[in-house]
Amino acid sequence: RAVHLTDYAPFSHIVEHVHLSFDLRRSATRVTARIGMRPNPDATRGPLRLDGEGLTLLWARIDGAEVAPRLDATGLTVDAPDAPFVWECAVEIDPSSNTALEGLYISNGMFCTQCEAEGFRKITYYPDRPDVMAPFTVRINSDLPVLLSNGNPGASGDGFAEWEDPHPKPAYLFALVAGDLVAHSDRFTTSEGRDVALNIWVRPGDEDKCAYAMDALKRSMAWDERVYGRAYDLDVFNVVAVDDFNMGAMENKGLNIFNARYVLASPETATDDDYARIESIVAHEYFHNWTGNRITCRDWFQLCLKEGLTVYRDQQFSGDERSHAVQRIGDVQMLRGRQFREDAGPLAHPVRPASYIEINNFYTATVYEKGAELIGMLRRLVGDDGYAKALDLYFARHDGQACTIEDWLAVFQDATGRDLTQFKLWYSQAGTPVLDVDWRLEDGTLTLKIDAAIPETPGQTDKALPVIPVSLGAIARDGREVLATTVIEVSETPTRVSFDIGTDDAVPSVLRNFSAPVTLNLDLAKADRAVLLAHDTDPFNKWEAGRMLAKAALTAMVTDGADSDPDFLAALQPVLADETLDPAFRALVLGLPSDDDMAGTLALAGQTPDPDAIAAARRDLGHAMAVDLESTLTALYDGMQVHGPYDPAAADAGKRALRNAALAYLTKLDGGDRARRQFDAADNMTDSLGALVPLIRIGAADDALARFYQSWKDHRLVLDKWFSLQIAAAPGTEGAAIAARLVEHPDFDWKNPNRFRSVIGALGMNHASFHKADGSGYALVADWLIKLDPVNPQTAARMTTLFETRARYDADRQGLMRDALDRISAAPDLSRDTGEMVGRMLDG
Ligand code: ARG
Ligand code: ZN
Repeated sequence: RAVHLTDYAPFSHIVEHVHLSFDLRRSATRVTARIGMRPNPDATRGPLRLDGEGLTLLWARIDGAEVAPRLDATGLTVDAPDAPFVWECAVEIDPSSNTALEGLYISNGMFCTQCEAEGFRKITYYPDRPDVMAPFTVRINSDLPVLLSNGNPGASGDGFAEWEDPHPKPAYLFALVAGDLVAHSDRFTTSEGRDVALNIWVRPGDEDKCAYAMDALKRSMAWDERVYGRAYDLDVFNVVAVDDFNMGAMENKGLNIFNARYVLASPETATDDDYARIESIVAHEYFHNWTGNRITCRDWFQLCLKEGLTVYRDQQFSGDERSHAVQRIGDVQMLRGRQFREDAGPLAHPVRPASYIEINNFYTATVYEKGAELIGMLRRLVGDDGYAKALDLYFARHDGQACTIEDWLAVFQDATGRDLTQFKLWYSQAGTPVLDVDWRLEDGTLTLKIDAAIPETPGQTDKALPVIPVSLGAIARDGREVLATTVIEVSETPTRVSFDIGTDDAVPSVLRNFSAPVTLNLDLAKADRAVLLAHDTDPFNKWEAGRMLAKAALTAMVTDGADSDPDFLAALQPVLADETLDPAFRALVLGLPSDDDMAGTLALAGQTPDPDAIAAARRDLGHAMAVDLESTLTALYDGMQVHGPYDPAAADAGKRALRNAALAYLTKLDGGDRARRQFDAADNMTDSLGALVPLIRIGAADDALARFYQSWKDHRLVLDKWFSLQIAAAPGTEGAAIAARLVEHPDFDWKNPNRFRSVIGALGMNHASFHKADGSGYALVADWLIKLDPVNPQTAARMTTLFETRARYDADRQGLMRDALDRISAAPDLSRDTGEMVGRMLDG
């Protein structure tokens, strides 16, 4: 049942052209395929094997003559001529009963598709694998007003439309949309002089919420030309917003399909964070046109080839458009919060996995986010020029091909001459490397001894050291930088380096800009961390110094019952008040590590995290910060007010972030007076939620929540926020009971993935509530995953990751989590998706 990387073999045939014709009907859509094929000279001869699932075959022909293929549960087999031939077949499918949202399905009356990774086989019989690339033509017959597919528009008329995609593509990039849609349109002229029609298609009524996504799209197109020399290659670029979608969005050639929440925005309905996510996802999907579509993956083991690179590119883009410092800190928080957590548990897997049962389970933080870190490290190792040369070579050499990580690394070796054998280990070894750094400062010389090791992960015990780029510098205690950023390569353990820095009165700043996805153990006194927080020229490490102080303070409170650390509070104040620092950066400095982050930190230090104690420590430290910093926070709250019309760009968003961060603390002191005033006066969703969330946290939001519901009950994306925030931000361990109540709410439409995540997923976001000692959090999640699995296996399987941290906790909680996993695993007809996830968690 498992697929292995080492089993790769090319497909028996070459597909020369695909023509598809759709007669769209809700419960009986007919799909007719005409596919030109010939034997693949590079493959072993054999019968024609096509993937197909849930299809009713009406007829099949080869070169016009009826054939009778052998059908089974996963496809068909038929003898084919040893020469070029035309395969034709007609199948019937039922989009109306497709609740898995994979293949062709219906969302709010709109036909749409999701084919990555293996959904095309639910549309017609086909070699559904990414290394089979072909040009497609499509005809859609339907009375619906808007009929879309990939490529350029062809003929259209009453009840039909034709589409032509000249660029060979794998089936996972196929898309079709049909519905009653309206467009927000614009144009873009490429650097090559191509005039491209841009359309964002939405349901009537949503057309006023597309301007920001369109703006982000045009900026993405210009950026990819400017930074990577990549221009768009079709006459139209269509984006469609869909309400029912398992993931964020999908890069189908010329027809990107998005979860509506990552397209639609207006100041009244979307927060600054929503705007930022829309910008980055629009960019991500657009950038896939070159890194993913024109150059795709040979097989699904190479998923990081397109995802890691495209995430890296969208992070670069957002950094360029906003702030590199703020972007990097956010990316690292996300990496640590999701990927380090994954890497430390039973679901740990390499960036390029060696085997899988269900590929949809590998669209993970490791493949995406750690995959992106590998690109950043490569760039650090070969330099900016080397990176640019390698990328040019990649596009020149591999355009139109389905590639591997070996191809990717070869362009770096060929373009720069650098041997990447040791670097390549990053792709095949799971686990977050740990760097233990000893440092000494004598006679003006800074000496570092770095020990590196990778912890064991499921199925991987003995690991070799990959080369690790470590950026470092040093800051004198008087604030001067005495060692500018230098990148050293840790390629053996231990690695020793020394630098003449001319003073003994300095502090090393190690792993600047988080130059590698590792855990750093570096012993620094509190006072030395305060020096870095005050003076580090590297914004990431400046922030990190504050974070380490906060973690030390929280750890002492949790484990020794210590009081909140006055030195931490004293070190924070000047940074918060420093007018030369970007408000968005200061907002990040003001934020405390999450409960889950603290639980992971304690577990890594060999302790058993107590969720209630962590929540209490965080609450107490937050309260102490509010008391101690009250005047600074009040000045920020008053001073960071934004005047004039709402602008989602970084400058104003940063001010709102800092102001609302200040409000969150002040609300702990004023009983919610300021927050209630802000909630009443807010004219944008950022300020509205900036007030509502702190009110929820102090248990004083009943009235505000009721009014919020009345205002937004007909707006599905805002209603998702109403559901999720009252659970995720619930104080104490109340989240479990609130979620249990909200699943009874008439607006809880559990078959809609966004709504399901807003309730069940939100409970998982509330650490103390999910881990409530009576097991009610675990039980509720398990009940609902059992219910969702037969309806939507992908979304259910993904959410089982809430249990991946089981091993961190005490025996009672571990037992309750195991009970929940056992119960899921015993559900009748458990999907392959959820079965694989739960199996790995029970074994690991
Ligand atoms: N390729 C898409 C993206 O990264 C994600 C689609 C994943 N879908 C899935 N069912 N696994 O933008
Ligand atoms: Zn992607």
